[in-house]
Amino acid sequence: MLLAADTIEKRFSGMEKPVLDGVSLGLKAGETLALTGESGSGKSTLLHIIAGLETFDAGQVTIAGQALTGMADAARAELRLTSIGMIFQQFNLIPSLNVAQNLTFQARLAGQTVLPEAAENMATALGLEDHLSKYPEELSGGQQQRVAIGRALLPKPKLVLADEPTGNLDEATTDAVFSLLLRETAKANAGLLIVTHSQKLAAQTDRTLHLSHGRVAV
Ligand SMILES: Nc1ncnc2c1ncn2[C@@H]1O[C@H](COP(=O)(O)OP(=O)(O)O)[C@@H](O)[C@H]1O
Ligand SMILES: [Mg+2]
Repeated sequence: MLLAADTIEKRFSGMEKPVLDGVSLGLKAGETLALTGESGSGKSTLLHIIAGLETFDAGQVTIAGQALTGMADAARAELRLTSIGMIFQQFNLIPSLNVAQNLTFQARLAGQTVLPEAAENMATALGLEDHLSKYPEELSGGQQQRVAIGRALLPKPKLVLADEPTGNLDEATTDAVFSLLLRETAKANAGLLIVTHSQKLAAQTDRTLHLSHGRVAV
């Protein structure tokens, strides 16, 4: 199993009920899983926990055989940089870096050797080959999200976590960006966990889990 989350519990201080009350899920390499649920149901919290960005109260997360609990902060950061690609609703590109530099940013942070043609090859796969020297503010939302997808995939992560990646895009752009995300993660044989509000998009993944009142339902 690439990712195993086992009976995760999480309560933020001051909250009456836990956000996550025994949530379990598993994901294999090459598999796609959609996570749905109302706003505030804990989807982002679960993704952050899996990415090692948020603590949890009980349960266990194992990524490629490595348990997050007990791992030193530095090791967790290393795992996140090398094994996990994250894609956010807000794109989160670095405004002062051009497309080529944004594409290679995470791979460089992870300490990987980035060949000069790496950005070009990724840009071509994403239909961005004419935009390599542009800055994020010169791009449309859909183009920015393509760059963010490329940045996440370039280090060849085993696991891709996408938190409402099409939430800021119009319908036509949503379809194009979603298909591209599915295609590129499949090519890399990565596991993809994607949060979406759209049943239509969720239907294109292998499985859907619904988060409600701190629990998952199929
Ligand atoms: N850092 C935090 N501190 C306190 N409460 C939080 C924090 N992050 C999220 N929450 C609360 O946890 C619940 C779940 O949030 P979130 O995981 O963002 O839901 P979703 O992504 O499904 O919309 C919400 O009630 C939210 O207000
Ligand atoms: Mg959220």
